[in-house]
Amino acid sequence: MSGRIPQNFIDDLISRTDIVGLIDGFVPLRKAGSNYQALCPFHDEKSPSFTVTQDKQFYHCFGCGANGTAISFLMEYNRMEFVEAVEELAARAGLEIPRQAGHASKDSRLSELYELLELVAQFYCRQLREHPQAQRAVEYLKHRGLSAELADRFELGYAAPGWDNLISALGKSDAAQQRLARAGMIIQRDKGGYYDRFRDRIMFPIRDQRGRVIGFGGRVLDDGEPKYLNSPETPIYHKGNELYGLYQARHANKEINRLYVVEGYMDVLALVQHDVTNVVATLGTAATSDQLERLFRSTAQIVFCFDGDTAGRKAAWRALQTSLPLLRDGRQVYYRFIPQGEDPDSFIRQHGKQQFEDDSHFLCLSDYLLQELTKDFNPIIMEHKGKLLHDISPYLKKLPTGNLKQLLVREVAKLADTEPDSLERQLQQSRDQASRPTTLKAQNKGERSLLAQTIRLLLRRPKLALHIADPKDMTELDLPGADFLAEVIKLIHQNTDISCAGIIENWRGSKYEQRLSELATASASPYEKDEEVFNTDEYLESEFAGAVNQLQELSRKRKITNFGKPENLSDEQKSLLRNLNPAARSVSKD
Ligand code: CTP
Ligand code: MN
Repeated sequence: MSGRIPQNFIDDLISRTDIVGLIDGFVPLRKAGSNYQALCPFHDEKSPSFTVTQDKQFYHCFGCGANGTAISFLMEYNRMEFVEAVEELAARAGLEIPRQAGHASKDSRLSELYELLELVAQFYCRQLREHPQAQRAVEYLKHRGLSAELADRFELGYAAPGWDNLISALGKSDAAQQRLARAGMIIQRDKGGYYDRFRDRIMFPIRDQRGRVIGFGGRVLDDGEPKYLNSPETPIYHKGNELYGLYQARHANKEINRLYVVEGYMDVLALVQHDVTNVVATLGTAATSDQLERLFRSTAQIVFCFDGDTAGRKAAWRALQTSLPLLRDGRQVYYRFIPQGEDPDSFIRQHGKQQFEDDSHFLCLSDYLLQELTKDFNPIIMEHKGKLLHDISPYLKKLPTGNLKQLLVREVAKLADTEPDSLERQLQQSRDQASRPTTLKAQNKGERSLLAQTIRLLLRRPKLALHIADPKDMTELDLPGADFLAEVIKLIHQNTDISCAGIIENWRGSKYEQRLSELATASASPYEKDEEVFNTDEYLESEFAGAVNQLQELSRKRKITNFGKPENLSDEQKSLLRNLNPAARSVSKD
């Protein structure tokens, strides 16, 4: 299967799927007012805050903040990738997925690379068994404690010495050589022709989450340099996005309660060799929030394994900062520091699985945070308490609202001899101050929230957009963000039955996705949620008309402030001013 899935198919799919029926099949829902509710499947709770809204085709948990469309639900609940979730919904709706012809050529060029790398991986595997010089590689793996069965499982291979082994095997035509080069496997010579990138190395194929080979790492057999050589960035391999071993971990485990995150290939292999199969590696780079989000789709508990040395501590601190904003209820992060001079590979070989997994050696993220910030803390020195409050507040602010934050606030308050409520208020206040605007900023903020309000209403009742005769009018608004509003309105004009979820799906993966989801779950006033009057067409129409009017007014004002001095005004500008308000009229008289 190849080709991009056309957006209008996704729109269609969302409009044919009933999110209530879908979710009810996994998590039995109960009707509550105009919504449906259940205990949230994404975090532990005693009373239901997971809410599914049929007319929005959207779910939202007031407890942990999880939210999304039918597609997001399958991705989160069933740990599917986007395409898998679409395939599942299409199958349920009895629809065939069309593929966009316009992109077919690009996509078929990509699938060529996937198919090629599959062959490359098989080639290196065969070489490990058959090449006359592969004995050294086999010995090396044995010496590192890895069995033949494990080498099979991870499809380890061998790139033999020589400049053209791969080229002779898989690059017979010019076109084939160009493909190998695009896949990063061979390198062009200055004088023309190519040579193999990987020579005399153990080969580790890297599979993405869907099981496709996307690149390789290769290790020398002695202490040559560089120790590891990796695939370069290619159209299908992006180092910062991948997690070595995730595909295998998901296949070895039906349910993953915990995932260990280590740094290297050898760490993954050694742990799996010792029957710790729930492990992935970041391949020597710091974990990004994309990678962590992906891991949290597979597990609720991440355990970072870092060396206990300075570099390891530094990496651990960085991981803490990346993790904090992701730690909504139900998700946990731990550290398993490895004693100085060892790494997870040497540790498990020396001490075994049981000691590695002994969670009395785990440090939870919140303890680690407190430990680091209270190193020389002396509770009888008032200044120390003040410093703690000062130092810790940026981290507390990064945490999403939830149990962990509440517990940490309580703990810090205790240490600093203050009341949790007052610390909470301080955090809130300093946040307001940080965003306290100057006059100009205040104006921008007003505009922004007005735009947000308009979009929120559209998510609530997309058909409101049809009250605007021509979406182009909106692009003429001289306001930041108006272009986006115009896009939303245009989409609804083209798709008059689109739901809130359908709109959000159009921005999946863009910077607007999260903003839209937030707006979809926000109510303007706490009453709106329950009271029917706030849900009537009349109410929503008048709110929308009011918001659009204000936007137009703001935009006009803005154009005027941009005009500059009155004597420089053009006739058109003067007439525009005359039609505004009395104050402006007096300016334009002279
Ligand atoms: N790495 C790399 N290039 C290097 C060194 C390291 O890409 N020149 C990446 C590899 O993914 C490696 C990881 O960083 O697995 C961790 O590096 P290191 O700790 O040095 O390697 P180990 O995995 O411990 O490898 P080994 O035990 O074989 O020495
Ligand atoms: Mn190592």
